[in-house]
Amino acid sequence: MNFHDTSSAPAQSGISQWPDTDALYPRFEALVKQPLRPIRRAAMTDVLNYFEQRCQGSARLAEQAKAVIPGGVQHNLAFNYPFPLAIKEARGAHMTDVDGNRYIDFLQAGGPTLLGSNHPVVLERVKGLLDECGPTTGLLHEYEVKLAELVCQVMPGVDMLRMMGSGTEAVMGAIRLARAYSGKKRVIKIGGGYHGWSDQMVYGMRLPKTGRMEAIGIPRGATAATQESLPNDLEAIRRKLKWNRLRGGTAAVIVEPFGPESGTRPVTRNFNAALRKLCDEFDTLLIFDEVVTGFRAGMGGAQGYFGVTPDLTVLGKCLTGGYPMAGAIGGRRDIMMMLVGGIGTTTKRAFVGGTLTANPLSCAAGYFALQEMRRTDAAFKAGQAGDRMRNGLEQIIERLGLPYVAYNMGSIVHLQTSGVMLLDTSSLLKLARVKNEAKERKHMMEEMGAAYSAHGVITLAGSRIYTSLADSDEVIDDALNRFEDVLKLV
Ligand SMILES: Cc1ncc(COP(=O)(O)O)c(C=O)c1O
Repeated sequence: MNFHDTSSAPAQSGISQWPDTDALYPRFEALVKQPLRPIRRAAMTDVLNYFEQRCQGSARLAEQAKAVIPGGVQHNLAFNYPFPLAIKEARGAHMTDVDGNRYIDFLQAGGPTLLGSNHPVVLERVKGLLDECGPTTGLLHEYEVKLAELVCQVMPGVDMLRMMGSGTEAVMGAIRLARAYSGKKRVIKIGGGYHGWSDQMVYGMRLPKTGRMEAIGIPRGATAATQESLPNDLEAIRRKLKWNRLRGGTAAVIVEPFGPESGTRPVTRNFNAALRKLCDEFDTLLIFDEVVTGFRAGMGGAQGYFGVTPDLTVLGKCLTGGYPMAGAIGGRRDIMMMLVGGIGTTTKRAFVGGTLTANPLSCAAGYFALQEMRRTDAAFKAGQAGDRMRNGLEQIIERLGLPYVAYNMGSIVHLQTSGVMLLDTSSLLKLARVKNEAKERKHMMEEMGAAYSAHGVITLAGSRIYTSLADSDEVIDDALNRFEDVLKLV
């Protein structure tokens, strides 16, 4: 049976137009060359007053949390400035905190809820499943098969699927699999890209060429076979592949197909196609980390959008519609067969596991969420909302004469105000030069995030906006008014 029958997938892509990278990069450069343009101090006092006066329930819980949870937050994307907001209700495009303040939600849990928060169709199905067999049994369940069939059907590069516990685990598994299959050990990633927090991938995170900067507690040996290469620089990747060829070769090149950090530094339109050719030339596997792009770019992911088929695909987030245990490795059948599970297995395999992987709850949630995404053309509609948001933000930025930059790939909207993620760290000298500046810019990003929140808008880290199916034109226009109110405080 040919599972790659994309005919039942919606025809419309999640991305109406790829950003004009030739125009964007000079604007990034201009933004980081300018002095900071933060919120005026008096206005920032008002922002902090909002938290102090209107968010007392959150403040109390945050204090309590600090005593038993390191730093009081458990999520790296959680705002802790001035303190984290505690949420009570989330539905569709909105969230309400424990003090009864309502927010437009553009965090969307960090990406997975493309249908909007707590979608009722998925919720009902999950409740039914829980009544029947609870969250997990440890044995085969029909939704494991249904979810795998559906993903194989819509994703061009996925012949088979193996569920994992998270995106991090899926990346670990995919790299192990690539090494087991190829017999090679080196892995090249793009500097600044995020592939979870496994030992080998805490390397060149957030900003290019930062190598082991965050690798505290990780032995050198663990990152010894990881290399990073500058974004959009195919020649640099070629040089690494050549160098590696003389030393046992490269197991895989792993990329976020929109560019590092969910396209913060977007790839040029033809980057992935050229990278595919390069990997073939050097007999190296190409891994697409589609943890973010998987289903936001459309049902076929970034691979469907770019028409580039990777050897292995890493999925997460949207795969289980916001429910727990979001991670999977997909790919070519011959490679995937090295992930054979089960007690009686004697074949040579890349070992992966997990007590709760492929549990009925996650698989049913994923299956019904993906079906609903396909039925409603969610990626396309969320992408349109993203276009409307970016368009509106660009107009506000221009009207107010600010140096900020807004761009989007469908439902992934970037709003760069501090430019911290765009600093030039392409050499050691440049990295040393911007280290202190990065701290100031990071604080400005926190302030912007706090100001958006005080105006009723939750963003991801003050610089990213995930739109969803729940974002009607009214929701976006309401949010744009609020963004404008904030940007007027600069
Ligand atoms: C591209 C990418 N890969 C991997 C991960 C790690 O996934 P998880 O947080 O589920 O471990 C993330 C998380 O944000 C991601 O954005």
